[in-house]
Amino acid sequence: MSTAISPTAYNYKVVRQFAIMTVVWGILGMGLGVFIASQLVWPELNLGLEWTTFGRLRPLHTNLVIFAFGGCALFGTSYYVVQRTCQTRLISDTLASFTFWGWQAVIIGAIITLPMGYTTSKEYAELELPLAILLAIVWVVYAIVFFGTITKRKTKHIYVGNWFYGAFILVTAMLHIVNHASLPVSFFKSYSAYAGATDAMIQWWYGHNAVGFFLTTGFLGMMYYFVPKQAERPIYSYRLSIVHFWALITLYIWAGPHHLHYTALPDWAQSLGMAMSIILLAPSWGGMINGMMTLSGAWHKLRTDPILRFLVVSLAFYGMSTFEGPMMAIKTVNALSHYTDWTIGHVHAGALGWVAMISIGAMYHMIPKVYGQKQMYSTGLINVHFWLATIGTVLYIASMWVNGITQGLMWRAINDDGTLTYSFVEALQASHPGFIVRALGGAIFASGMLFMAYNVFRTVRASNPAEAEAASKIAVVGAH
Ligand code: HEM
Ligand code: HEM
Repeated sequence: MSTAISPTAYNYKVVRQFAIMTVVWGILGMGLGVFIASQLVWPELNLGLEWTTFGRLRPLHTNLVIFAFGGCALFGTSYYVVQRTCQTRLISDTLASFTFWGWQAVIIGAIITLPMGYTTSKEYAELELPLAILLAIVWVVYAIVFFGTITKRKTKHIYVGNWFYGAFILVTAMLHIVNHASLPVSFFKSYSAYAGATDAMIQWWYGHNAVGFFLTTGFLGMMYYFVPKQAERPIYSYRLSIVHFWALITLYIWAGPHHLHYTALPDWAQSLGMAMSIILLAPSWGGMINGMMTLSGAWHKLRTDPILRFLVVSLAFYGMSTFEGPMMAIKTVNALSHYTDWTIGHVHAGALGWVAMISIGAMYHMIPKVYGQKQMYSTGLINVHFWLATIGTVLYIASMWVNGITQGLMWRAINDDGTLTYSFVEALQASHPGFIVRALGGAIFASGMLFMAYNVFRTVRASNPAEAEAASKIAVVGAH
């Protein structure tokens, strides 16, 4: 039976769809992460098949965790936040639904084509042209739904969370379209429109800002809504949030060359990237402090509220990875860290500690709300999940620091006669224990997602359509 769409109700259906898929893709993407981590421990797990080799599954992991898990979390929460803070329904249910199904189609396309070996070979932009075009179309429609909803808002101000979501949507569109400019030679093979060092620079302008705008700015939008909501405190400083916004988006866009230190990229561009990366520490920490200080007077809630713990610990990891990043951008430090597992540790401090933990916290806050429930089925299980996620992240990043520094030092060790002290294989052997600890940490983190799935399943099952419908009624202005 189809129910009439009330203009006085929010569109929670699309939020629910994205929320459920966040959990599903989270399990698959992280499960695959554990599998490829295990391949590095036991190479037999490559299974002797071309489709299941590390080289083909690694980009599938990154696509699933960033675009499927992270992407669904961003779509779902941005649709929730924009409606509630603008006190209005999404501008079009049909277009919103198109973004849901279109996004899932892109992901299914990635799951099919990446193991088959179809890839542009540009990191985080691997999908070949037909899928990249579909992605661009879905993204433009997303922008129409998001900004269209803002234009018909019932509130005077545009809440700061929407600024962050808005910047993430606009810049991602720009990056994706520019970096994907290419010449097709067949349906599934195209070549980049750029060549040599220019291609590398465009790719890392894209790659770094995918981190800056997809993995950071969008999730800061999430932070600005869900941290004050869960803490039941207003954001610490509205003024700081505006400074944070403009400083962050102005600086991030210049930092890409730190991925190309000591390459054919002109030296001045590398130094510029380094300088901008170091300055980036300031707005990053400004944002973290704004989030953390929102808990002033509410710190005691951390004792009893594991959702708040997820959100606050994610900010701690955000602070940590945005301290580590500027340090790694210094050329002399990068000379040691580049190509080593230190980079992988840095990535997952951001990815597990920040991106995944803030998404999980936001989902635990939002899912009961959009299903008309007071709270999740079990707070105890959220607490178990919190500890599994924290312990898993710490094991992952600590093992990668040890591995990274060991590798960096072994690679550069030189005998008196100028020959290398260690062969590459010796450094690989020294990394083996770290690979085992990383796989274990990853498995612990991923097992937490199974607790989440069960908790979500029980919460959804407890809800009936009438409750969900009642929960989507638009409340009076000022009550978002
Ligand atoms: C259970 C959790 C996870 C495990 C076990 C895991 C494992 C791995 C492994 C083994 C690699 C390849 C490392 C290498 O080439 O040496 C990798 C790469 C990567 N993962 Fe994960 N991962 C997990 C979760 C995540 C999440 C949640 C995200 C993002 C939100 C993420 C983002 C990435 C990225 C961006 C890379 C590429 C890093 C680079 O090229 O420097 N991972 N992961
Ligand atoms: C101020 C903030 C940050 C700065 C200046 C920064 C800087 C860096 C540097 C210097 C590298 C190593 C490049 C190389 O040697 O190849 C790197 C790699 C990376 N960072 Fe960050 N980082 C920051 C924050 C973050 C955050 C918050 C995340 C995740 C959410 C993140 C994700 C990544 C990823 C995915 C890579 C690996 C890229 C690749 O080679 O595939 N970064 N970052």
